[in-house]
Amino acid sequence: MKVSFVGAGKVGFSLGRFFAERGIPVIGCWSRHRESAEEAAGFIGARAYDSLKDLVRDSDVIFLTVPDGVIKSMFQEIAKYDIENKQICHCSGAMSAEDAFPGIHEAGAYGCSIHPLFPVSSKYDSYRELQDAFFCLQGDEEQIRIWEDWFKKQSVSVQKITAESKIRYHAACAIASNLVCGLIAQSLEMLESCGFSEEDALKAITPLVRSNIDHILEYGPEKALTGPVERCDVKTVSEHLKCFADKKDRMLYRSVTEKLIDIAGKKNPERDYTSMREIVKKSC
Ligand SMILES: NC(=O)c1ccc[n+]([C@@H]2O[C@H](COP(=O)([O-])OP(=O)(O)OC[C@H]3O[C@@H](n4cnc5c(N)ncnc54)[C@H](OP(=O)(O)O)[C@@H]3O)[C@@H](O)[C@H]2O)c1
Repeated sequence: MKVSFVGAGKVGFSLGRFFAERGIPVIGCWSRHRESAEEAAGFIGARAYDSLKDLVRDSDVIFLTVPDGVIKSMFQEIAKYDIENKQICHCSGAMSAEDAFPGIHEAGAYGCSIHPLFPVSSKYDSYRELQDAFFCLQGDEEQIRIWEDWFKKQSVSVQKITAESKIRYHAACAIASNLVCGLIAQSLEMLESCGFSEEDALKAITPLVRSNIDHILEYGPEKALTGPVERCDVKTVSEHLKCFADKKDRMLYRSVTEKLIDIAGKKNPERDYTSMREIVKKSC
């Protein structure tokens, strides 16, 4: 199966090299800018194509590693050529193969979505870490089964999901990464309003964040949960809720706290969290 990449960015570089090092023949790269294609081809050990038509002709599997908003139009571009019996893949977490490649079955081709659940931040270094990433697979059943077998042979974790689950799956990933970023930004703002410098605020929460994340990842959120909600310290939580001048900040605290009460209730079934639930509910 000769594989090519259209879109020589972070994922094109990284996945291309990752596949090539594991014996998949990665034969070509095409990109909006010729220099990007050449750079990627040099890094992967492939050929930089000037013409999309030639790349399509020479490839069995074509990865469209362009930004999500461009995947559909890039597919329409390559579908002008003969893509019969070829596999077209994208790496977006949010889109299904069917959304990205309308009319693919009519063209006699197969669509797959192969999403590395990993922050691919570097063109040149991230490929080394992909071995530990979880890959989420969706699309044409037979082709996905082939990818699933290949990843498993490489001892890489995979999960198959349905087209309907893709956006929910992506929202789940955003909660675990981007939304944590939002929570930390909120915490830093509040510490700065207590007199911490920007630099000290980040330094001050570093051991707290690191240790908390380590515990969550090692033992799961239920075992890792500590603090006033878990202790059922209603007074402290009630005071916390009063310290937010801004309603949207209070809503943020409230929503996450409601989730924590659910977790605390499971962790300590003997404790009664009813009054905690009530003060949180009344708070907005
Ligand atoms: N980065 C991540 O952490 C990550 C993780 C999982 C999945 N993904 C998915 O992987 C895909 C690629 O993401 P990426 O992070 O590799 O993006 P990226 O680094 O921005 O690279 C995208 C490449 O696509 C080309 N491109 C940009 N705009 C274009 C346009 N309008 N028309 C044609 N080509 C265009 C660019 O090529 P030129 O250099 O030639 O201009 C660019 O190098 C996306 O679907 C993304 O959701 C990303």
